[in-house]
Amino acid sequence: MKFCGGCNPKYDRRKTVELIEQRLNADIKYSEPNRGDICLLVSGCERACLKKPEWGQLISVNQFTTIDSIIDLIQTWGEEMEDFKDIYKEKYVTASEAVKHIKDGDRVVIGHACGEPRALTGALCERAHNLKDVETIHMIGVGESNYCKEEMEGHIRHNSLFVGNKNERLAVKDGRCDFTPRYFSKIPALFTNGPLPPDVALVQVSRPDAHGYVSFGVSVDYSMTAAKQAKLRIAQINQYMPRCHGECFMHLDEFDYLVEEDIPLIELPKSELTDVEKEIGRHCASLIQDGATLQLGIGALPDAVLLSLKNKKDLGIHSEMFSDGVVELVEAGVITNKKKTLHPGKLVATFIMGTRKLYDYIDDNPNVYMAPADYTNNPYVIARNDNLVSINSCIEVDFMGQVSAESIGPLQISGVGGQVDFVRGANMSKGGISIIAMTSTAKGGTVSKIVPSLEQGAAVTTGRNDVAYIVTEYGIADLRGKSLRERAKLLINIAHPDFREEFIEIWENRFHEEWEREERREKVTIIA
Ligand code: COA
Repeated sequence: MKFCGGCNPKYDRRKTVELIEQRLNADIKYSEPNRGDICLLVSGCERACLKKPEWGQLISVNQFTTIDSIIDLIQTWGEEMEDFKDIYKEKYVTASEAVKHIKDGDRVVIGHACGEPRALTGALCERAHNLKDVETIHMIGVGESNYCKEEMEGHIRHNSLFVGNKNERLAVKDGRCDFTPRYFSKIPALFTNGPLPPDVALVQVSRPDAHGYVSFGVSVDYSMTAAKQAKLRIAQINQYMPRCHGECFMHLDEFDYLVEEDIPLIELPKSELTDVEKEIGRHCASLIQDGATLQLGIGALPDAVLLSLKNKKDLGIHSEMFSDGVVELVEAGVITNKKKTLHPGKLVATFIMGTRKLYDYIDDNPNVYMAPADYTNNPYVIARNDNLVSINSCIEVDFMGQVSAESIGPLQISGVGGQVDFVRGANMSKGGISIIAMTSTAKGGTVSKIVPSLEQGAAVTTGRNDVAYIVTEYGIADLRGKSLRERAKLLINIAHPDFREEFIEIWENRFHEEWEREERREKVTIIA
């Protein structure tokens, strides 16, 4: 057992540690700068090193903490872990032993995003040369996705449900990896008596509680469903995985193999925002009323929107995911979830991506409700939230309002995720609206993201019949109830000025009408 005795001589805990050592009759090393199993936490630890994820259990001590209470806590944790290890001793194996049970031709579903069980995926890739024709399935890969690498050919073929990182994009482009389109809300159904029954699930979970339940923490989405359905269920138990509340628990009984590997979760820092993104955030914020419930998609723009919401009141969250910006608004009293018509008082999500600060916030926090994606992203469930505002981003929008959010021409660079689930849910929500927000240009201003026609081969993500608000740094276009002619005009008005002249010519030819000269604006602010 390693034990931090503290680094500040002012709070020397040497005496306490010695007492604990005597009482437990254990060999305790203290004052070690690296990983410890237990940290005596006193004033100053938080700033100094508590936020380093290397630490295991923390015990807060102050002048009132007795040595007996500390001993009690240490023994309870020890006993819980020992009990489960005794009961399930045949299930506790190493990662390399666990993946030996994967067979040629198996379909292996991997836990999602920051919940990827990296000890298990690492062991699988190490073993890959002994396997043939294994199919791995994963949605957003934020790790290295080594199962997509060239040397995996013939051993593992990856099937991506999102194409979330550069390795996957390259593998899909080179034809070494497949992409399967599917709404996020319908992904769990792929694995429940659906078209892709899993042979194996590799997932990551929290430590068990006193009753033997582990939480899927930052990644409930399809991961828990796959783990329930797979013939072979392997879990990486990781002390860094938060124990979230909600529909997100399985019992140790339900797994075939358990691998204890404490590896800090992947963290995604907050984006550095440009002035353009901040301007887009302000436009979006102007559409959000006090008391609204928000869904925020992926990319820099959701952070920009959050930044502009500091003066709002009683906002709520029902989203597929959220990141650090949400916690800042909770702490500032802007997000209270009080006015939510479904799960009042709770932040609702199916996966979480952010920093350790966020993971600590959601750990054992009854205000956070995590549930599988077929619940959180079901448009009928979303619609039960009055005033639901969905905010997502995209690659291109054509003059008709067709939104491509997942490909550049035929090159797949992302997936639909929950965009359409939430656009449709927002459309059905009483007082709800959907926003697609984007910078007006890409590639250093050389490419307009508003285009007369989508690039050949581009996938339509949100259709023109579903789309509502489009926002750029030049303003807001409300496409609801607008003809194709009117839509194109509104979109041209929020395109980058460098492209407007060219677009106006196309508009005039397409609609056989002359553009009214006074509408030729250099800088349009808000067109609604
Ligand atoms: N033409 C050419 N390239 C374009 C482009 C365009 N019109 N628009 C964007 N790109 C390029 C960017 O240059 C960037 O390339 P790089 O990675 O080589 O730098 C890449 O596409 C990603 O664009 P960026 O603006 O940085 O993306 P983002 O981080 O803001 O995310 C989406 C935008 C659309 C990719 C993201 O929101 C997404 O994945 N959406 C999926 C659908 C969705 O919203 N789901 C809900 C959440 S799961």
